[in-house]
Amino acid sequence: MEAVIFIGLQASGKSHFYKERFFNSHVRISLDLLKTRSREAKMIAVCLETGQPFAVDNTNPKKENRAAYIQLARAHGYKVIGYFFEPNVVESLKRNEMRPKPERVPKVGIFTTRKRLQRPSLEEGFDQLFVVQSAVGNTFSVGAYVQEELPGLESRPNG
Ligand SMILES: Nc1ncnc2c1ncn2[C@@H]1O[C@H](COP(=O)(O)OP(=O)(O)OP(=O)(O)O)[C@@H](O)[C@H]1O
Ligand SMILES: [Mg+2]
Repeated sequence: MEAVIFIGLQASGKSHFYKERFFNSHVRISLDLLKTRSREAKMIAVCLETGQPFAVDNTNPKKENRAAYIQLARAHGYKVIGYFFEPNVVESLKRNEMRPKPERVPKVGIFTTRKRLQRPSLEEGFDQLFVVQSAVGNTFSVGAYVQEELPGLESRPNG
């Protein structure tokens, strides 16, 4: 049993990636879709009770946003896999603009999430971490996550 947790800015491609890689195997847990924490908790509870793999498709920028999912999943014997979408504000802004209007988020949300974003670490309870980057030809490249980040990444204006 596997719980997947995405970490990434708005319009970084998380839902797109879900559709590509997890649509056929993992239930999508998305707060945008479910609207309330209560509904989210119920959906996750059903997954855990029935041993259904799931993927948490939220921005999950802070360690504290991820902690409850990780704790619950581990308590139910799930393996927890994190996918960190390398932040790129400029790319996110562009992709956001290209989305159909109802799917667009306010620009300020992207900047705010960038400020809040904390890179994940195995110490949080992840069994494995990957980094996802946009690659040529509208594809994704998935690589091993290197925990020792470049100094200053948190404050790079465009990154
Ligand atoms: N690798 C990709 N190739 C082509 N289009 C992509 C790719 N990644 C994302 N997109 C497009 O960019 C836009 C934003 O992607 P997506 O909706 O998946 O972002 P998101 O991270 O789920 O954002 P949010 O947090 O707001 O839900 C979408 O229109 C999506 O189709
Ligand atoms: Mg999405």
